[in-house]
Amino acid sequence: MEVRKAVFPVAGWGTRFLPATKAMPKEMFPIIDKPVIQFIVEECLDAGIENMVFVTGRHKRPIEHHFDINTDLEKHLENCGKTELLKNIMEISRLVNPIYIRQKEQLGLGHAVLVAEPVVGYEPFVVCLGDVIIRNEQNVISRMIEVYQRFGKSVIAVFEVEQKEVSKYGVIDGRHIEKDIYIIDDLIEKPKPEEAPSRLAIVGRYLFTPRIFDKLKVTPPGKGGEVQLTDAIKLLLEDEAVYAIKIDARVYDTGTPIGYLQTLIEFALQREDTRDGMMRFLRGLKIELSEV
Ligand code: UTP
Repeated sequence: MEVRKAVFPVAGWGTRFLPATKAMPKEMFPIIDKPVIQFIVEECLDAGIENMVFVTGRHKRPIEHHFDINTDLEKHLENCGKTELLKNIMEISRLVNPIYIRQKEQLGLGHAVLVAEPVVGYEPFVVCLGDVIIRNEQNVISRMIEVYQRFGKSVIAVFEVEQKEVSKYGVIDGRHIEKDIYIIDDLIEKPKPEEAPSRLAIVGRYLFTPRIFDKLKVTPPGKGGEVQLTDAIKLLLEDEAVYAIKIDARVYDTGTPIGYLQTLIEFALQREDTRDGMMRFLRGLKIELSEV
């Protein structure tokens, strides 16, 4: 079956970024001049997915505006002759078919995915965390779709982290099958480093068979009283195989202040129009820091 839809659970509180996230979604924070969520939407478009289901909350309206057509702005840019900017603004709102659905209560990531069920229907779908940007040689979603097409089962992207970092992530206990593919035996949410079954951490890209909805419906609230997606995947494992693909990627978690800052600096160093200015600034800082 074709994978046609991506779900973005973007209804969370973003407490690690308060007070900035009181009225502004963290998914709209700019990485220089592009909001985080646009990078992830572009990743889906590159993988051939146009239908994007955003599970939103009451302070997430800017996401809707961002992917909408703004005719006044387009006319203004046209009148000023800013054709490059105009092309850029027009493109994203025309390529994406956004569908918005409210998660009325923030009952957890698993619950947010379940809220998308009436829109997704009984077909395989992708879930993308809206604050994680991934840079990989091959598009990660395309690779997940390839593996899904081969096995017909759910696929989760993982990446290798240092042992001391495992407690920040969901970690898989899996068996290597071939190349980048693993079959998952178990998942452990935020294990202590000494108890982690592997260093393969879940990265924020999932491809699910619709069976996950049946499991989410019977997943009791877990850690923090929230319905955890990881718990539902554990239930799914009782019924069908779940695969993992190991990606060798740069992963940018923009949902924390330090992760966001690191992303900004790295992207500024990679972009032609900002690289020199940022280098000069960092070199200047180096002198100041060495004097501290
Ligand atoms: P996080 O654990 O990052 O939570 O959720 P959060 O609320 O966004 O941020 P903090 O931890 O309070 O700082 C993982 C993803 O699940 C979504 C979030 O928007 C985020 O993308 N989510 C979480 C929901 O959509 N609904 C929820 O009820 C909880």
